[in-house]
Amino acid sequence: MQDQFRRQINYLRISITDRCNLRCKYCMPSEGVAWMPHENILSYEEILRIMRISTQLGFHRFRITGGEPLVRKGILEFLGKGAQIPGVDDLMLTTNGLLLPEMAFGLKAAGVQRVNISLDTMNPERFAEITRGGDVSKVIQGIFRSLEAGLNPVKVNVVVVRDFNTQELPGFLTLAKQYPIHIRFIELMPIGTSSERRSDFVSIQEMKELLGVKQYIPTKEVPGGGPAEYFRPDDYKGSIGFISALSRHFCNTCNRIRLTPDGKLRPCLHNEREIDLLEGLRNGSSDQELLDIFAQAVWYKPAEHRMNEEALQGHRIMSQIGG
Ligand code: GTP
Ligand code: 5AD
Ligand code: SF4
Repeated sequence: MQDQFRRQINYLRISITDRCNLRCKYCMPSEGVAWMPHENILSYEEILRIMRISTQLGFHRFRITGGEPLVRKGILEFLGKGAQIPGVDDLMLTTNGLLLPEMAFGLKAAGVQRVNISLDTMNPERFAEITRGGDVSKVIQGIFRSLEAGLNPVKVNVVVVRDFNTQELPGFLTLAKQYPIHIRFIELMPIGTSSERRSDFVSIQEMKELLGVKQYIPTKEVPGGGPAEYFRPDDYKGSIGFISALSRHFCNTCNRIRLTPDGKLRPCLHNEREIDLLEGLRNGSSDQELLDIFAQAVWYKPAEHRMNEEALQGHRIMSQIGG
C-alpha cells in the first residue's frame, strides 16, 4: 500500500528474536542486554497471522532478521509455513552466518530465496575482536554452503569502521570477483552502542577511494528491495554495493516497515514511534481490526529520519528493533 508520501510500502522486515550468539561491538554493550521476556515475544503462529494480514495490503517481500534469527528454535518449520502463504513472493533472511554451515540447505528446502550475511572482517583475530568471540571460519563456510544450497545470490554486509577494517576493504573484492556474491559496504549508523563514536564513521566516498576500483559501473541487475547501490566491473561474477544511511539517505524511496520481536510495528528504523500489535493479537481482535492498525502504521510512516542527538535519545539497539 501507499503511505501518505506516495511511497509504495511492500517490504516487511520481521525480527523473530532479540537474542544473538554474537555481541558485535557496534551493536551490543559488552555486558550484553537483558533479553526480552519470553511471554512478550510473538509466537510463530502470531507472526504468520501478521504476514497473512499484511499480504492483503500488498506486502509481498519479507525479510526475517534478529538478533540472530537462526538461533530461534523451530525456525525452519516457521519459514516453511511462511513461504506457503499466498502473496509471499520473496522470503529472505539476514543472518550473522554462524549457523549457516548446518542450516543453509534446510533454509533452501523451507522456501527461503536468499540470505544476506554479515561479515565485517575475514581476519580471524579481528573477527573475534569485533564480535566478541565469533569464529570467522564458520561464517565463510556458511557463505559457500549457501551458494551450494542455491540461496543465490548471496549478499555480504560489511559495516565499515575506521581503523578496524578500513585497510582490509580491497580484500573483499576477490569474493565478488570470483563468485556470485554481492559485497555491500555499509556506513556505520549512530545507533545502539555506536551512537557515541563519530570518529569510527567512514563515508561511502572514502570507501570508494580505499577500494581503489578504477571505474564504478552501475548495475541494476542485482535482485533486492533494499537501499544498496550496486556496481559491477566487467570481470566480476558478483558486484560491489554501498549502503549509505547517512551521507546520502534513501528515505524518499523507502519501501519497508519493521515488526519487532515483541510485536510492535516500527515504521522507521530511526524513529522511536512504534505501534503495538501484540495486544490486539492477544485480546481477540479480528483480522480486519489488526489490518486497520497495520494500515495506519504504514500511512503515518514518517517522511524521513532525523539522525540527530534528539532523535537518538532512548533508542532501542539494533538487535531489539531488528537490523
Ligand atoms: P535486500 O536489498 O533485499 O537484499 O535487503 P537489504 O539490503 O534491505 O537488507 P539487509 O538486512 O541486508 O540490510 C542491510 C543494511 O541496510 C542494514 O545493515 C542497514 O544498515 C541498512 N538498512 C536496512 N533497512 C534500513 C532502513 O530501513 N533504514 C536505514 N537507515 N537503513 C537500513
Ligand atoms: N550501523 C550499520 N549497520 C549495522 N548493523 C548493525 N548495527 C549497525 C550499525 N550501527 C548491521 C549488521 C547487519 C545488518 C542487519 O545490520 O552488520 O549486517
Ligand atoms: Fe548479533 Fe547482528 Fe548485533 Fe552482531 S550486529 S551482535 S550479529 S544482532
